[in-house]
Amino acid sequence: MKKADLLNRNSNLSFKEILQKIPSDILVEMTPSTPNGQPGLNHIKEAFLHKKHVVTSNKSPLVLKYRDLINLAQQNNCEFRFEATVGGVIPIFTTVQNGLSASEISKIEGILNGTTNYILTRMSEGSSYAEALADARKLGFCETNPYDDVSGLDAARKLVIIANVLLGYNITLEEVKTRSIEDISQAQIIEAHLNNQVMKHIATLEVLNNEIQAFVEPKYINVSNPLAHVKGIMNAIQIFTKYAGEITLFGVGAGPKEVSTIILSDIISIGRNL
Ligand SMILES: NC(=O)c1ccc[n+]([C@@H]2O[C@H](COP(=O)([O-])OP(=O)(O)OC[C@H]3O[C@@H](n4cnc5c(N)ncnc54)[C@H](OP(=O)(O)O)[C@@H]3O)[C@@H](O)[C@H]2O)c1
Repeated sequence: MKKADLLNRNSNLSFKEILQKIPSDILVEMTPSTPNGQPGLNHIKEAFLHKKHVVTSNKSPLVLKYRDLINLAQQNNCEFRFEATVGGVIPIFTTVQNGLSASEISKIEGILNGTTNYILTRMSEGSSYAEALADARKLGFCETNPYDDVSGLDAARKLVIIANVLLGYNITLEEVKTRSIEDISQAQIIEAHLNNQVMKHIATLEVLNNEIQAFVEPKYINVSNPLAHVKGIMNAIQIFTKYAGEITLFGVGAGPKEVSTIILSDIISIGRNL
């Protein structure tokens, strides 16, 4: 049997059998982010149990079982990389873990979903919500279920990953207060412009007295805020630190070609350590 046949989803082999039959060092897991984390969660666990490193763009396994997965990776001497799960091409994990390890972070705020930012930008240019959403789907920006984008669920998943991986918390998706962009009218967007403001879908993590709060909500922001100038499919992440001030990162938030480069970077990083 050829490797391509083994990888065919319709082959009769179980995922475990595929892992055993294909000689490989790394599993790249890119199935859809689902409410119960499957099939990605099982794929990743099985890969570690077979001593294979994992690169993933799939948020749900991290949202649901980050600690279990990182422990399993360590027990099996495997690397676990997931840079593409948050912020599109922005290397948020590498930046914070390597570059800001001495900085105390008090808040992280950003535009973490390219699809909603694309829709709000198009609406500010005169398109209807339905037209903008249809175009976002055509261009491959949306999640497998676009409701995950517009409801704020996708951005909420990303906040959970940031809180648990970078800030050391253990929050769940239910703890993120989320509001959709579906009810935003063109009139609200125009009104914002008249007041030197812009309507954006903003994701916020704020640490106060060691307690963390997480929100995803449509918000009026002033044009003086760097996030006001993030247009279309772009993402931005602002990191507020206690002593190093504020750092803002910008980058394309979604798209098959762009995000593939981040997956490849994770593979190359693992390859360098092999
Ligand atoms: N697109 C982006 O810009 C982007 C950015 C960051 C993160 N992500 C994440 O990356 C992942 C993939 O995104 P995508 O846009 O490539 O999604 P997609 O276009 O919907 O592709 C999903 C892929 O998973 C396969 N698949 C679905 N269920 C499967 C199963 N049970 N077993 C094996 N394969 C299965 C599908 O195969 P079939 O074609 O055979 O159905 C398809 O190839 C998602 O978790 C998403 O959240 C995407």
